[in-house]
Amino acid sequence: MSAQREHFGSRMGFILAAAGSAVGIGNLVGFPVNAAKNGGGAFLLMYAIFVVVICLPVMIAEMAVGRKAAKNPVGAYSLLSENDSKWRLAGLLSIITPFMIAVFYTVLTVWIFVYLVLAVTGNLDYIASADSFGEVISSPYLFLSMIVVAALVRFILVSGVKDGIERTAKIMMPALFVMLILLVIFVLTLDNAMAGVQFYLIPDLDKITPKVVSNALSQAFFSLSLGMGILITYGSYISKDENIAGSAKLVAITDTSVAFIAGLMVLPAIFSFNPNVNPSELSDSGVSLIFSYLPKIFLALESSIGYFFASALASVFFLLVFFAAITSLVSIVEVPVSYLMDEKKHTRKKALNTMFLWAGLCALLTILSAGMVDFLTLLTSYGGKSKSLFDLITDMFYDTILPLNGLLICLFVSYRWKSQNLNEELSKGNPNFSKTFLAKYTNFALATIIPIVVAVIFIDTVARTYFGYNFFG
Ligand code: PHE
Repeated sequence: MSAQREHFGSRMGFILAAAGSAVGIGNLVGFPVNAAKNGGGAFLLMYAIFVVVICLPVMIAEMAVGRKAAKNPVGAYSLLSENDSKWRLAGLLSIITPFMIAVFYTVLTVWIFVYLVLAVTGNLDYIASADSFGEVISSPYLFLSMIVVAALVRFILVSGVKDGIERTAKIMMPALFVMLILLVIFVLTLDNAMAGVQFYLIPDLDKITPKVVSNALSQAFFSLSLGMGILITYGSYISKDENIAGSAKLVAITDTSVAFIAGLMVLPAIFSFNPNVNPSELSDSGVSLIFSYLPKIFLALESSIGYFFASALASVFFLLVFFAAITSLVSIVEVPVSYLMDEKKHTRKKALNTMFLWAGLCALLTILSAGMVDFLTLLTSYGGKSKSLFDLITDMFYDTILPLNGLLICLFVSYRWKSQNLNEELSKGNPNFSKTFLAKYTNFALATIIPIVVAVIFIDTVARTYFGYNFFG
């Protein structure tokens, strides 16, 4: 059975695919906004510490579980727990989570695609206008855009792991990197850009509150694609002679570097547009930054470089975000697809069709919940706020269940599968692994500090989001 399993063609291919999953809207938009609002350099430092101390061991654990079992998350949890139904449930949660995150991420990607098309077709003045976002998210073009996005993801995934996922990552990731660097170089030449760089890099420790700490960890988790079953699934496609810990380090470094560099693009741009801005007052969400604030900045460049080049820059920016979103979307859709292929014995085509039918339906409802249909827009309310279907899915799966899945994988690896098996798996392709500091730290932390920290954050999020209760004031 496992002999027929698809595999990545090379180590580089796997690293690029995993980095493609990790680098997404979260890095390019979420991270700079969070850093701007939450103490600049202080947030950076805290984020980097979380990546190393908490996220890297979890990433290594997910990849090792995937490779050992050579199965999707449900199959992996079942196999390694010898069919314990409790752990099978944890596996199921690792299939439902990516399914639901795929739904809300599709909505974001569809919006980005509409903005990309508008920028390319010379409508920068429109997307920079105050009403455009409200109009775009309730326009019928969204459905056309959704078909294009779904067709593209399907086109990539139907070719499989090596010819689809890996090949796409090999094209899109370098392109993404080049676009990002070009934009950063351009932005840094603008007037007042350096004020943005200073703001970004100089730590303001007063801004660090327990809520900011919790946000930084959620952001790091999401950004590294942890808790979504993705790295278990991608891990199941790597060969036994691959050095997992080494690859995980490279993926974490790439992801964090891209987030850091994206801050060097976004903050200086904000300062050159308005030198008196106070970025800690920027709106909470990345959504308003990307869809209303940044287009205004691009349009303002018209006076210095002309409308054509300002539109070209906006187009490059949206293409960059679109590429990042597509490689993430591909990785997340692959999780339920691999489940259907392994457990339900679907062919890849049939699994994709099933997935697209259900995820498409849910994405449609979610798109309608951004203002088009009142019932879905005002679906429910909790924590003192009215919530749409879109909000509900983000709160539940992004904020709440992601850390829960992280907690479960730590407990599973340490107390059920056992560290000794983890080490054995990680020593394949890296015979000296168990003697390294990283091995000792990973074993210790997965069993102790990581589950404790993640559990605290989980409880705090549940209290804050659903009951409006703040433990830490
Ligand atoms: N890591 C992605 C990001 O930062 C998050 C993500 C991954 C979302 C995979 C969906 C699928 O945007």
